[in-house]
Amino acid sequence: MKIMLYGLRRDEGPHAVRYAEKFGWEVKSCHEILQESTAHLAEGCDAAFISVSCQVDAATAKILQRGGVKYLLTRSAGIDHIDVDTVLSLGIQIANVPAYSPNAVSEHTVMMTIEVLRNMREQQRRIAQMDFSIEGMCGREIHNLTTGVIGTGRIGTATVQNFSGFGGKLYAYDPYPSDLVAQYAEYLPLEEIYARCDILIFLCPLTDQTKHMVDRKAIQQMKGGVVLVNTSRGALFDWEAVRDGLKEGKIGGLAFDVIEGERPFIRKNMEDTPFEHPVFKELLSMPRTLYTAHAAFYTDEAVENMVGIAFMNLNEFLTTGDCKNKVTKGD
Ligand code: NAI
Repeated sequence: MKIMLYGLRRDEGPHAVRYAEKFGWEVKSCHEILQESTAHLAEGCDAAFISVSCQVDAATAKILQRGGVKYLLTRSAGIDHIDVDTVLSLGIQIANVPAYSPNAVSEHTVMMTIEVLRNMREQQRRIAQMDFSIEGMCGREIHNLTTGVIGTGRIGTATVQNFSGFGGKLYAYDPYPSDLVAQYAEYLPLEEIYARCDILIFLCPLTDQTKHMVDRKAIQQMKGGVVLVNTSRGALFDWEAVRDGLKEGKIGGLAFDVIEGERPFIRKNMEDTPFEHPVFKELLSMPRTLYTAHAAFYTDEAVENMVGIAFMNLNEFLTTGDCKNKVTKGD
């Protein structure tokens, strides 16, 4: 078995080596992402391992198939970067890593929320200039606030549990409520959560229903001064509406780890590379915003699980002919 590892980061390398030795597979690797121009590098390999930054469109998939690739293993939960139907129609099996560490994203969400409530970005900016004044930096305490978690799957559940430790009122919304979450939070319809909450945390997937769910109409339904937290997917928000809400003061703070249209710059050093995203740049310059570069997942445990589970997915395909994390048409 020969495998090709695309977009391999330095921190993933030792885990990949360990698992390849464990299964006795021959490994090729590169730091480049998989896309049409790099697909030929997998020629002669049985499997290609990819990251969420790779772009597997129809042309790329056809080159992989011609090169002999029979398995595509993504080290991510998301599969938006893969033209699933085309890849499957070419006889290439796909598997993902649905959960590598819900706590990683949940703890990052808690951190960002508190940092916005305590004006941490502005405090750090002042401190970097040796300005130790605290005027205007007065924060708010979660236990006095009402928090709503929208989407109570794996990460949402961990987030509700983590927030319950602060003692504030908790609400949740999900088309499929869970008994576990109901022990900590009261499920309410979305409009009621919007009307009642001081903090709104979005942890649902991007679907036709959730795309731009936070638009001008939704923002109008929210409490004045609401803090929005999006550590899920950028396209859940209409970002121009969010920017305007911040400008008008209707939105009191914004923590975001994701933004629509992030693919050209995300997780890259863009210091010397001009790029266009006027709304994003405007948001970065606003005082009550906090941004991280799609990094909520990024912990030691998550990295090890992303690599390890992707390897175990391939091993499961090879030993049983199937895989519990198999991606099927329409996923
Ligand atoms: P999950 O699949 O376990 O849970 C998603 C939940 O959202 C489900 O309970 C589902 O019923 C619910 N949902 C579906 N449609 C909804 C709607 N219209 N309104 C409210 N809830 C709805 O997913 P998991 O593992 O909890 O991940 C949640 C999201 O977090 C992912 O979809 C992904 O977008 C994001 N994510 C972000 C990462 C980051 O680094 N920032 C890393 C990993 C995931």
